[in-house]
Amino acid sequence: MPLVTSKEMFRKAYEGGYAIGAFNVNNMEIVQGITEAAKEVSAPLILQVSAGARKYAKHVYLMKLIEAAIEDTGLPICVHLDHGDDFEICRSCIDGGFTSVMIDGSKHAFADNITLTRQVVAYAHARGVVVEGELGKLAGIEDDVNVSDEDASYTNPAQVEEFVTKTGVDSLAIAIGTSHGAYKFKPGQKPQLRFDILEEIQQRLPGFPIVLHGASSVIPELVAKINNYGGKMPDAIGIPEEMLRKAARMAVCKINIDSDLRLAMTASVREYFGLHPDHFDPRQYLAPARTAIRDLVRHKLVDVLGCDGKA
Ligand code: G3H
Ligand code: 13P
Ligand code: ZN
Repeated sequence: MPLVTSKEMFRKAYEGGYAIGAFNVNNMEIVQGITEAAKEVSAPLILQVSAGARKYAKHVYLMKLIEAAIEDTGLPICVHLDHGDDFEICRSCIDGGFTSVMIDGSKHAFADNITLTRQVVAYAHARGVVVEGELGKLAGIEDDVNVSDEDASYTNPAQVEEFVTKTGVDSLAIAIGTSHGAYKFKPGQKPQLRFDILEEIQQRLPGFPIVLHGASSVIPELVAKINNYGGKMPDAIGIPEEMLRKAARMAVCKINIDSDLRLAMTASVREYFGLHPDHFDPRQYLAPARTAIRDLVRHKLVDVLGCDGKA
């Protein structure tokens, strides 16, 4: 099984009322944990790489790790650039073998977002690569971009048809109240998503795949474990799983999860050193961290996204 684009995955997910998990990868243990889970439950996968991940691990290492995972598991896997900031990074990832890129022009004015996205689509489609665009701004932190709550804005449904038609994108990320990172809602605030906006977008773009970023649930047990073993995380509230299940039944075909993986890995490593303060072999603490990622991803695939058995 070679690397695949997300085209077929999204078509089947839309029809089947489920979503594909898009998980961020930064090193070998994360790639292995995610792909082991997907193999166990026979789920299609999107592994996504941010600019920060490329800086940390280098493009070629991540690409080779993902190729190794495909050889090892035989799964259909799409390699996707997460939050491409400009044409250059998209071009570099396309030339470097990615099958999907996101051009995140959401910080630009509508017309400039269209121009930039269209340029990426032309380059990508000529090479068999698919493109995700974004309309609306999510709050939170990704790499060097920090969008404050005041600057965040919901997607305007009245703009989606023009954006999709003029750019030719294959999928669209929207802002309906999710945000990046572990601190998505203020303490005491009730998590809420604008399903009315999603519904209107779905009506305006029938059959078109929608993407949800910032979809970690910030699982309380993981935060509690981190704090039990010396961490000092403030209260954190994520997106309730029931809301993600609902989105997956609607037009949302791709759900992005990174923070929950970070929490799972950190909780495991902290627990390990809490129990074994004298150990120093990295394999001893990275093996359980990899298992923690596997278990978390299996839970997401089966209990939240509903894409198990769909590979
Ligand atoms: O949306 C952002 C992802 O969580 C990636 O985070 O840019 O720190 O790698 P990163
Ligand atoms: P979380 O921070 O909620 O995991 O979102 C990840 C994401 O959207 C990656 O693009
Ligand atoms: Zn994102």
